[in-house]
Amino acid sequence: MMKTVFPQNFLWGGATAANQLEGAYLTDGKGLSVPDVLPEGKDRLDIVNAPDYDFSLDEDKYFYPNHVGIDHYHHFKEDIALFAEMGFKCYRFSIAWSRIFPQGDEDQPNEAGLKFYDQLIDECLKYQIEPVVTISHYELPLNLVKKYGGWKNKRLIDFYENFARVVLQRYYHKVKYWMTFNEINSAAHFPVMGQGLVKSNGADDPKNIFQAWHNQFVGSAKAVKIAHELDPKLQVGCMILYATTYSYDANPENQLAALQANQANNYFCADVQVRGHYPAYTKSLLAKHHVALSDLQYTDAELALLAQYTVDYIGFSYYMSSTVSVTQTDLPRVQGNLVGGVKNPFLKSSAWGWEVDPTGLRIALNELYDRYEKPLFVVENGLGAIDQIDEQHYVADDYRIDYLRDHIQAIAAALSDGVSVMGYTPWGCIDLVSASTGEMSKRYGFIYVDVDNHGQGTFKRYKKKSFAWYKQVIESNGQNL
Ligand code: BG6
Repeated sequence: MMKTVFPQNFLWGGATAANQLEGAYLTDGKGLSVPDVLPEGKDRLDIVNAPDYDFSLDEDKYFYPNHVGIDHYHHFKEDIALFAEMGFKCYRFSIAWSRIFPQGDEDQPNEAGLKFYDQLIDECLKYQIEPVVTISHYELPLNLVKKYGGWKNKRLIDFYENFARVVLQRYYHKVKYWMTFNEINSAAHFPVMGQGLVKSNGADDPKNIFQAWHNQFVGSAKAVKIAHELDPKLQVGCMILYATTYSYDANPENQLAALQANQANNYFCADVQVRGHYPAYTKSLLAKHHVALSDLQYTDAELALLAQYTVDYIGFSYYMSSTVSVTQTDLPRVQGNLVGGVKNPFLKSSAWGWEVDPTGLRIALNELYDRYEKPLFVVENGLGAIDQIDEQHYVADDYRIDYLRDHIQAIAAALSDGVSVMGYTPWGCIDLVSASTGEMSKRYGFIYVDVDNHGQGTFKRYKKKSFAWYKQVIESNGQNL
């Protein structure tokens, strides 16, 4: 048998986010969060960007899928037992900020919310599953958006610091791996999720996006400080959305455009969080958006904090690559792809228009490691697909197995290239609500959950074909693919 290239302590597992699976959106004192007011449907991001959108609920008109999710809040023991059956070494989940601070700006946390995560974490530890916690995954308490205008307001730094301190102090002796913000750079494409910004509260003005990022960088550095003061062995990562970015052709103009798109979309946030300072291209990036440094509020003390409290590893999501051309304006563009770009003639797309590119993951791992020389953690990857469940409640999801196998092979290749990779947690290891479209029918899981786009179903869990396949991958430490 060939020796596996995966290190013995490689963290195989799966990833979820509180708002997309827990449901129980007002249970045990939870407050409303931004995703609680995002309706179901492919146009949910357009709806919230209407000029008069005010973040209110209109339940006569819309269904809000995050209110029920897959009711993980009441099924977490069963779900974690299934993860354990697959042999998960780790489980990446997030803590719903609005369970701990329902309005976001209270002084004292909601004990009932903390109790839920006490149980969730203990359940993981019972099976020797290492918890990997995202402190904030796309779920700002709604009050922080309505009252303070979202992350563009510097007051959010203190509210986030309180939240981070409470959960770090409570769990640091049980949880070693943390991430401060999910896909922090995604605000370049859809700022509502991470920053709470839509057209009606300033998303159209790039100054607000950059200010919000700065405030989040400071919040992130404060969380690193708190964690390392509690225990220097804690590992705190950033988390970025990475879409390997190609030039459409060898035209130097397009090569330059691809380089700049890489800086703007993939690297900007990580450069600050990993290197501890704003990169040299910051001024020109701001200028492109007609923003001057003097438009932003920042202090020397904050910059010192960024320099001192950099992250320990780089978590990133990888689903697709992106292709850039500035010289040809008539090229077909990818449809539905959140990251945008022109169609790459060498790649096929998922049913949602996401271009599938495993080699792009090997490139991503090499690019990130070359640039930062810090351990990498692939904390999201997967194929959103429409699954057909048969009468025996079985889903033969060979397409998902193919996708994941190709991407695991890309990680193995990158390991052989010398890249340091800590682990792999495919997205939505159990079916959950899609972030971009609010659909349940866009499924990623090894476990099928019987609930539809309108929250109807038995909520029963069924193992898909990929369940047994992933179990064998983990058992063989990536040898048996
Ligand atoms: C990432 C997010 O963007 O991609 C997840 O961190 C999200 O929250 C995942 O669910 C897949 O995207 P979608 O839109 O298919 O759910």
